[in-house]
Amino acid sequence: QKGGHDSFMAKEIHEQATAVADTLRGRIESGKLHLDEMSIDPSVLRSVDKIIVVACGTAANAGNVAKYAIEHWCRIPTEVELAHEFRYRDPIVTEKTLVVAISQSGETMDTLMAMRHAQEQGAKVVAICNTHGSTIPREADAALYLHVGPEIAVASTKAYLGQITACYLLGLYLAQVRGNLYPDEIAALMEDLDQLPAQVQRVLDDAEQVGDLARAMADVSSVLFLGRHVGYPTALEGALKLKEIAYIHAEGFAAGELKHGPIALVEEGQPVFVIVPSPRGRDSLHSKVVSNIQEVRARGARTLVIAEDGDDDVLPYSDVVLRVPATRTLFAPLLTVIPLQIFACELAAAKGLDVDQPRNLAKSVTVE
Ligand code: F6R
Repeated sequence: QKGGHDSFMAKEIHEQATAVADTLRGRIESGKLHLDEMSIDPSVLRSVDKIIVVACGTAANAGNVAKYAIEHWCRIPTEVELAHEFRYRDPIVTEKTLVVAISQSGETMDTLMAMRHAQEQGAKVVAICNTHGSTIPREADAALYLHVGPEIAVASTKAYLGQITACYLLGLYLAQVRGNLYPDEIAALMEDLDQLPAQVQRVLDDAEQVGDLARAMADVSSVLFLGRHVGYPTALEGALKLKEIAYIHAEGFAAGELKHGPIALVEEGQPVFVIVPSPRGRDSLHSKVVSNIQEVRARGARTLVIAEDGDDDVLPYSDVVLRVPATRTLFAPLLTVIPLQIFACELAAAKGLDVDQPRNLAKSVTVE
């Protein structure tokens, strides 16, 4: 059942190349994006002036990646809100608001209530879900399924990659319908997206080093995660995985926020993961993150750095470098999160914990 793995979580992590391919399957055809299930009229999509993503936990982290992609490609202001906060703050929602509800289970009560609230104000809702026939996609105006297969482990992994992939498809579809990108730009983006399953597989194939690292760190009591731009939600997701299955205090920060407080936490030996953006990416982002690595290391941190192949700028300041293949900045979250998932999974296993059934947690949270 676990396909030779020690846990469902390990199995699901190793299914992620297939998961991304399954989410993409049949949706890209000769450079054009086909989302037959987008049953919201294109004229409605063209009138959208704001997007609000509502979700919880890992699904909200996927939404935070989506925000960067959708705003960049579609130029639509996009907010991401934890569903339970959204519902109770009298949010501004109109018929021109598009709500994107992301939920693996499709049954998360907080997300369902948020989406119903938005529909009552006239907004259209697109659900991004994995579980067919569940409540959220049934009640939504359109449903985009992940097709990644059932996720058994409580900690979400392959659904996270599927959610991010589905968000990219939604963003590119909106850009296509609204004419924000030229057809050849969309084709080039989709060509690169199509490379992702093979690149995910490469990260999985190279993961032995991460397992060794996790086993050597089984007694740590606190781990920090830093990222910038799309590396920020990746940092949050890395921290969430470690909290939920390894019961280790973990926090993710926007790297630029360091000097505004969190750097005070850094003392001798503090492990800090840093997700480094591509050196070919946007302007000065890369050098800023490299400076952040330098800053925490100067205060005694043990720096565990996730960087693109060939990025040697990180070497002088890294205790450990974990490599990922080069891709577009916006697509990197599908690769950089994998070492963090494996780290949490291996560390929890090394502590002898029940990786698939962490204490106090349920796979689907059907109460508010
Ligand atoms: C984390 C995790 C939870 C869920 C959250 C939302 O690994 O599994 O944070 O992501 O409870 O669940 P869904 O996606 O089913 O709405």
